[in-house]
Amino acid sequence: MEKETQKKVLLSGIQPSGDLHLGNYLGAIKNWAELSDQFECYWFMADLHTITVRQNPADLRRRTLTQIAVYIACGLDPEKNTIFVQSHVPAHAELGWVLDCYTMFGELSRMTQFKDKSAKHADNINAGLFTYPCLMAADILLYQPDFVPVGEDQKQHVEICRDIANRFNHVYGEVFRMPEPYIPKQGARVMSLNQPDTKMSKSIPEGCVFLLEKPEDILRKFKRAVTDSDTEHCVRYAPGEKPGVSNLIQIYAACTGKSFEDVEREFDGKGYGVFKPAVGEAVVETLRPIREETERLLADKAYLESVYRAGAEKASYVANKTLRKVYKKVGFLAP
Ligand code: TRP
Repeated sequence: MEKETQKKVLLSGIQPSGDLHLGNYLGAIKNWAELSDQFECYWFMADLHTITVRQNPADLRRRTLTQIAVYIACGLDPEKNTIFVQSHVPAHAELGWVLDCYTMFGELSRMTQFKDKSAKHADNINAGLFTYPCLMAADILLYQPDFVPVGEDQKQHVEICRDIANRFNHVYGEVFRMPEPYIPKQGARVMSLNQPDTKMSKSIPEGCVFLLEKPEDILRKFKRAVTDSDTEHCVRYAPGEKPGVSNLIQIYAACTGKSFEDVEREFDGKGYGVFKPAVGEAVVETLRPIREETERLLADKAYLESVYRAGAEKASYVANKTLRKVYKKVGFLAP
């Protein structure tokens, strides 16, 4: 127990806004299971964030539960990690409001993601989309974490979180611990199978392998994967020259634990017609236990409920401590 409290705290949120894919797994989730030995970890389904873009309610509910099951299936042990749903812990919305009042219109207007998303959803530029960074800052600061593992695209959000925390601390004293972005030991950067110059993403479904996809569909996608139009036709890692083949080598290496050189040697003298199905098979075998375990967990709703209820209870305890402190500092009368 003593040791427990000394561990550094790490927290991250994941929006249940799309089905998880191989890029999410090899690039991030796969490495998270190990973190819980080193850190006290909080992982939450950022459902409040998803409604800044219109969602189908039934899909959102299904994806939130499925995502919890997938994380557990990928090795996040609920005994060692706090796994919860953001909307189950009201302190997020409550601190979010307070932080709205300590964040400037100008700084929110400069956020890259706001500019991108309002261009993409011009018919729904809602206030939530604009103040999203304040809610995200609340998500983080409630748990006083040392580290926040985020991808490149979210770094600006951790920056503004630090600015907001600093501003608040400057007025009221050291209320919030200053979080650092955590750059995980490099995971694979998986590219789209049919457009290997762009990151694998659910928005290009033909080039994307979803974690729960049927093996035959996965194999078909790999057989159709774009290779390169060079003349040598050999399996050689050269991302600049041969992005398609290099992406497949990287995927194969990540799934089998082999080095790029080993992979080149293994397929030396063999054509893409042998290589591509082999990568497909390796991916199918990597994902099979995850899919099976996810399906097993989804059939056991009582267990999943027990996980996210316990997670919300633990998270609320920690979050409410910070929230009470904040309410007191700003001058709200104690209830
Ligand atoms: N904004 C993050 C994303 O879109 C998700 C997120 C919400 C998050 N709250 C967070 C990530 C807090 C880290 C910490 O990916």
